[in-house]
Amino acid sequence: MSPSHTPERPENGRSNDPQDRVQEHGQAPGHAQDDRAGYKTDADSPAVDAQDVAGSQDPAAVNAEGAAPASKIDVQDDVERADIPTFDLTLRIRRYNPEVSDEVRWDEFKLTMYGTDRVLDALHKVKWEIDGTLVFRRSCAHGVCGSDAMRINGQNRLACKVLLKDLDLSKPVTVEPIKGLPCEKDLIVDMEPFFQSYREIMPFLVAGGNEPTYERFQSQEDRARYDDTTKCILCAACTSSCPVFWTDGQYFGPAAIVNAHRFIFDSRDDAGDLRLEILNDKEGVWRCRTTFNCTEACPRGIQITKAIAEVKNAILSRSM
Ligand code: SF4
Ligand code: FES
Repeated sequence: MSPSHTPERPENGRSNDPQDRVQEHGQAPGHAQDDRAGYKTDADSPAVDAQDVAGSQDPAAVNAEGAAPASKIDVQDDVERADIPTFDLTLRIRRYNPEVSDEVRWDEFKLTMYGTDRVLDALHKVKWEIDGTLVFRRSCAHGVCGSDAMRINGQNRLACKVLLKDLDLSKPVTVEPIKGLPCEKDLIVDMEPFFQSYREIMPFLVAGGNEPTYERFQSQEDRARYDDTTKCILCAACTSSCPVFWTDGQYFGPAAIVNAHRFIFDSRDDAGDLRLEILNDKEGVWRCRTTFNCTEACPRGIQITKAIAEVKNAILSRSM
């Protein structure tokens, strides 16, 4: 593996990123689905009330036809939820489908949700009851897998961890894909540039010497040295909130440095020097401008800026 950062990735997404071509309140010319029932752009008319649309269809019939996704998990008993207060809100979602148009548009959906619902539940409601063409990633729905990072009211968050009741519902709740990575469709971005940087810092234990007969021992103090950075779930909320990463996408980004930190300070690992050499690259740690966006965005509460500073110090002390 080359010790230098190899910028093979596309010239970061920003120039190609359809986010640069946003037409707020605009409508994609010739969009094939604009006059579909229950699905209108905010430029056309007031948003459609989800309850009306849901009421116009027979969910049982939909299920009988197999149209409802098999992965549907929001099966709630009405009796169970009877005592939970509800509220109305408008969900404003950035839409992009390159198979239909290069233009971005914004769709608004009026929803009635429960007080215990999260942004992910609102997205499920839109997808399952109003517009099945909406696409987004999610898996665990409980803040573990890291697949549903998105910009919610302009801040990088996991949709499954943001309670709707904690947002300002007097205004539309805005949902967009994370920035700095090419948008593939709706809320889904191409994560490959992110994982390319992750792979380059060798995110695995490199332990030399004789193979132990039982295990490689480590004191509790040594384990605590990198405990914080073991919590990363690779959601990319940090890297895609970094203005340096937005500029050209060549910067390794905070997530790669966090995961390098996890092994650099692991007393059992023997490749710390090589990782420090990799991050001493012009696209490495020195591009960090300490804006703290990453630390603020991390859903795991990792002290990312502190970890980056520790890696910088390790590089400096190694070269002295
Ligand atoms: S450091 Fe935090 S924000 Fe960044 S990828 Fe890991 S969990 Fe996500
Ligand atoms: S769906 Fe897994 S973290 Fe949100």
